[in-house]
Amino acid sequence: MCSIIGYNGQLFVAPLLVDSLKRMEYRGYDSVGIATINNGKILLKKGVGKVLEVDGTLDLKSMKGFTGIGHTRWATHGGVTEINAHPHYCCTDSIAIAHNGIIENHRELKEELIDLGHVFKSDTDSEVIAHLLENYYNDQKNLKKSVMKTCSRLKGAYAFVAAFEDGTICGSRYNEPLIIGTVDTGNFLSSDILGFIEFTDKAIFLDNRDIVILDSNTYQIYDSDGKNVDRTATQVAWELAAIDKGKYSHHTLKEIHEQPKALEKVGISSLDKIEEFCKVLSKSKTVFLTGSGTSYHCALIAKHLLSNFGKIHAETLMSSEFQYTLAGVDNSSVLLAFSQSGETADVLHAVKAAKQMGAKILSIVNVSTSSLARISDSFLVTSCGPEVGVAATKSFTTQLSLVYMIADRLCNGCLGFSANRSLVIDAICEVLDSEKEFCGIAEKIHPARDIYVLGRSIHYPIALEGALKIKELSYIHAEGIAAGELKHGPLALIDRDSYVIILNPSDSTSDRNIASAHEIKARGATIIGISDLPNEVYDIFIKIPKIPSIECGAIYPIIEVIPLQILAYYLSLVRNIDPDYPRNLAKSVTVM
Ligand code: AGP
Repeated sequence: MCSIIGYNGQLFVAPLLVDSLKRMEYRGYDSVGIATINNGKILLKKGVGKVLEVDGTLDLKSMKGFTGIGHTRWATHGGVTEINAHPHYCCTDSIAIAHNGIIENHRELKEELIDLGHVFKSDTDSEVIAHLLENYYNDQKNLKKSVMKTCSRLKGAYAFVAAFEDGTICGSRYNEPLIIGTVDTGNFLSSDILGFIEFTDKAIFLDNRDIVILDSNTYQIYDSDGKNVDRTATQVAWELAAIDKGKYSHHTLKEIHEQPKALEKVGISSLDKIEEFCKVLSKSKTVFLTGSGTSYHCALIAKHLLSNFGKIHAETLMSSEFQYTLAGVDNSSVLLAFSQSGETADVLHAVKAAKQMGAKILSIVNVSTSSLARISDSFLVTSCGPEVGVAATKSFTTQLSLVYMIADRLCNGCLGFSANRSLVIDAICEVLDSEKEFCGIAEKIHPARDIYVLGRSIHYPIALEGALKIKELSYIHAEGIAAGELKHGPLALIDRDSYVIILNPSDSTSDRNIASAHEIKARGATIIGISDLPNEVYDIFIKIPKIPSIECGAIYPIIEVIPLQILAYYLSLVRNIDPDYPRNLAKSVTVM
């Protein structure tokens, strides 16, 4: 996923573009570039690396002009090189574009344009947009028409901004976000409200195939037929502007520590919505649960809780697989989709497919203005504030909290989450207070070739989540394993170089977990036990508090995930990796 930004107004544009791109950098950070228009010429600078690195080397902020576009890239087509960085010029440098998405028919378009004499410089799919615009603009000298014609040729998902040397900025979108931010000093076009949130909380979300043209003080929106259309402005949350690391060295650590505060308030103002969710879920013949990555792990826990506490027939499907297994989805089904960003392409694709089959769509998102929220029949918001670190942490535990609240409501409080929320938060704080111990553990285990995380029953999704945190933050191969499956194959992998983390809070799964631990110990592996009780089989013991007033072990997942988040964070540090921006990843995967 990339970030695109455009501005046309009275302020020097280069510093604005660089600051906007820095705020949106979590969306993709392979390379950076900006183009500004000055005295009828388009100046363009770009380079490989993060925003501040490229600005440091190329002095982006000093570029002249009051109009311009910018881009941070997450490479899909073409390697991470300067020439493949955006923006891209057309042949005569009279147009520059920045694009987010994938142009699926870029090869045939490129061939057609080369036959017309266009010369390409990059290996990207995106560059075709610059040459198409040039081609149609040269034909008709009509900017709106050349944008319409260009968009009519594009297949796939796109949001692009284009700068013309006459000082105009235009853009269009299809299945990738593009938002107008109007301020008294000019107008922004951005992939994300973070691109202009420090100037305005008024956002205009463009519809698919809308075309927008910004000149220095106005903007026009057209539909795909070229007719003027009006899109209403949405007021977005100002607090999104407060994205800094505060006293923490990384967003990831800050967001891990923000969890207690986030859990205090999540769901409190949505009790009516939760009631509505319960009614819809209870009446449904089958509830399908879906998400990707960490959100999928939340779906797995939701299945446990809805089945065992809500007596609901629930099936989980990871979103990337859902589209292949739609059997059984009909107008009596409910699909509950989990997505922090609400922009994950796989999730949106699954939801749209289920919607077409007549299913009712519920969702749990962190961004109330996201595409997923907008296509849902009803949605709950985790309201945990912007999560900048690529690794999902506070968004996961707040998703989980909403599921606990739903399950608790369905069983009239028998789960004990709502009544004991403050005790759960205290337990999480206790783990967070021992943060520094994880630095030592990370020092010990960071040379690991493999790390296995074992969990049984409702702890198995947390084993998967812990493994995901470790692999995406430290690049160590980590695998989540259902403890009961150990002897069905994975035990063959265990040897004296293996590190095995066992999730073993003292609940009904504990005895069998200890038995598994001894089988692993017998193969010479190092065992890290996460539990409320020590055991001599553990080489390293990570204590999590027990909450006496809560009977069932079903609450432990929201506590036992915390040590795994912190451990993954320290493993990234000890391996000199920037935890906020792990290689090859992006915060929200808006391409399939
Ligand atoms: C989790 O740490 C990862 N960043 C990733 O698996 C993420 O959970 C997944 O891409 C889904 O994102 P979403 O919740 O925004 O849909």
